[in-house]
Amino acid sequence: MNISNGLEDVYIKNTSITFIDGEKGILRYRGYDIHELAENCTFEEVAYLMIFGELPSRNELVSFSGTVQKSFSLPSYVLNVIDALPQDADILSVFETAFAAFSSEERNFSWSREATLAKAPEILGHAAAVLAAAYRHSQGLKYNPPPASDSYAKSFLSASFGAVPERKIVDAMNRSLVLYADHEVPASTTAALVASSTLSDMYSSIAAAVAALRGPLHGGAAEAAYRQFTEIGRAENTDEWFSKNIIQGKKRLMGFGHRVYRTYDPRMAIFKSMAASLAKDEEERNLLRIAERLERLGVEKFSPKGIYPNTDFYSGIAFRCIGFPVTMFTSLFALSRTAGWIAHMSEYVENGGRIMRPRAVYIGHGPRELPGEKAR
Ligand code: CMC
Repeated sequence: MNISNGLEDVYIKNTSITFIDGEKGILRYRGYDIHELAENCTFEEVAYLMIFGELPSRNELVSFSGTVQKSFSLPSYVLNVIDALPQDADILSVFETAFAAFSSEERNFSWSREATLAKAPEILGHAAAVLAAAYRHSQGLKYNPPPASDSYAKSFLSASFGAVPERKIVDAMNRSLVLYADHEVPASTTAALVASSTLSDMYSSIAAAVAALRGPLHGGAAEAAYRQFTEIGRAENTDEWFSKNIIQGKKRLMGFGHRVYRTYDPRMAIFKSMAASLAKDEEERNLLRIAERLERLGVEKFSPKGIYPNTDFYSGIAFRCIGFPVTMFTSLFALSRTAGWIAHMSEYVENGGRIMRPRAVYIGHGPRELPGEKAR
């Protein structure tokens, strides 16, 4: 019996959404290269592209964005749930809990094409508002709904920070939303697919995806990579830290390695140059110098095994330059990836995807009697 540990090389669906060439380091959404999309498109356009299959016309975009913006307003029961959590609650847990709360109204959800297309902009609107609310809650600040604006990134940042940010910060946020919007079927998307394959509702399925995203081997890696840089402290400490922790201590270098890429993750260089162009003070430039040195050491050591830096290596520094604390990093990933989760769930269920019900090979005891005191 062949068991694929970690489902390696197991194909669970056909997809027209995202293409990855792990040998050449190519990533495309619906045929468009990630560099082109990150440079030229808004997150709303990319979300529409992934969910509907084509880039929107001007009218389609206005209508889609209008529905997203209507859902920037949160029902009071969701705000109450967020408020009930402690201020120092993990921000991703707040996001996940809010999604579970939304699902309480979804008993009659059906996975028709019409229903998923109608739900998608509502969920994207709610996601931005929930995360802005969760962030402000963590800072002890009053909730501030995202204002309607010319971009999702700008509305989200304005709601989070309580002021309209500079243009270059909005552009960076937009780019990061695009870069993280989808990546085929990693653990979180697979979790969403498993939940939706049972015909559960979309909000619950996203809560399942968030649970799988959290760990440091997946979405939590940006935070873990960033914490390495702060632990190192100064660029001149990097070699010693690497030798002690990675070579002798045999710890994993966080932000390195990938199940699919055997070369550089194409998103990494975009995050790296974003971080370099946004770094505004000595502290941020210092983090970059540490990361660059660690990148060189990591590539020297691990590239012979096909292990290279991934998207999470520099994204944390970029998030920090945008203005967010490390406790927000995984949630910022979740906000973007919500678009990909929706697109993949819709594609799977609409294409007749069956309930995901794998098997396990039984290797335990043969039949046996209950111990005497339990037997009747
Ligand atoms: N540092 C050191 N060694 C590594 C690393 C790393 N970051 N990644 C893999 N390896 C080694 C591992 O020790 C193993 O060596 P050996 O064959 O000698 O036992 C070999 O490479 C294969 O590792 P694996 O864990 O079986 O590979 P995988 O495909 O199951 O894991 C991974 C992929 C991403 C979980 C892993 O590379 C990792 O733990 N990386 C660090 C965490 C990280 O950066 N995750 C973000 C992934 S990309 C974005 C996302 O999905 O969120």
